[in-house]
Amino acid sequence: MTGTFLARRSTELERLDTEPYGFEEFQEYLHGLEHINRWVLTYRPTLKWLEKALAALAPGRRISILDVGSGNGDMLRRIWTWGLGRGLDLDLLGIDLNPWSRKSAELATPPGAPIRFETADVLDFTPPDPVDFIISSHLTHHLTDEQNVRFLRWMEAQARHGWFINDLHRHALPYHAVKYAIPLVSRNPSIRHDAPLSVARAFTSADWRGLLDAAGIPAGQTRLAWFFPFRYCVGRSKP
Ligand SMILES: C[S@@+](CC[C@H](N)C(=O)[O-])C[C@H]1O[C@@H](n2cnc3c(N)ncnc32)[C@H](O)[C@@H]1O
Repeated sequence: MTGTFLARRSTELERLDTEPYGFEEFQEYLHGLEHINRWVLTYRPTLKWLEKALAALAPGRRISILDVGSGNGDMLRRIWTWGLGRGLDLDLLGIDLNPWSRKSAELATPPGAPIRFETADVLDFTPPDPVDFIISSHLTHHLTDEQNVRFLRWMEAQARHGWFINDLHRHALPYHAVKYAIPLVSRNPSIRHDAPLSVARAFTSADWRGLLDAAGIPAGQTRLAWFFPFRYCVGRSKP
């Protein structure tokens, strides 16, 4: 390990993005991620941001939310059940590059839930209908800096009321914690490989400021917040 370790985003690729998985292997990976998401409080920052963002809209109207890189669809199912308790009329769409994500998410989602899944590369996708909010979790660390700048501009253009990015903080503490803790909770060799690499591919606050600047989005229009345990989230609410 050198002094420059984690100074920059790793460019090493994750197995999730490179291995030619069959459906069952990919589904097992996504189930593992869903399990970890519950443990590391993934849903909390997004729900907290949505709560505030929705308060600015007229009550009773239908709200559309697009989750990019939706994986097994667990964030959207969580938003659905959260919204049921609040009497929200939700229209939820998840898109993911890998066609196995759609199949796995559909199998995990009860029929009748207001959630659809599609296969698409976000860098080449136009929503069929205007969307109120665009969210993502653990997507941006899979993209290059140049792709993230495009993604930020795309969200800025497509989301009527705002967008929210939920991803990891690149830091030595979570890198080592994840490296040693994940084998205790997952036997999946791909998850064991990718989990610390995800932290190494993730972001510092300076990275996010640079990406927002490159996308031409003024810092004053966004909110960058750190969430326990070692997560950076970027939110944009449009007036
Ligand atoms: C680490 S997983 C996160 C899944 C889920 N959001 C979660 O938090 O558990 C990243 C997901 O992003 C998807 N993905 C990567 N690049 C993408 C792209 N360009 N467009 C759409 N989805 C993408 C991958 O297929 C994968 O399912």
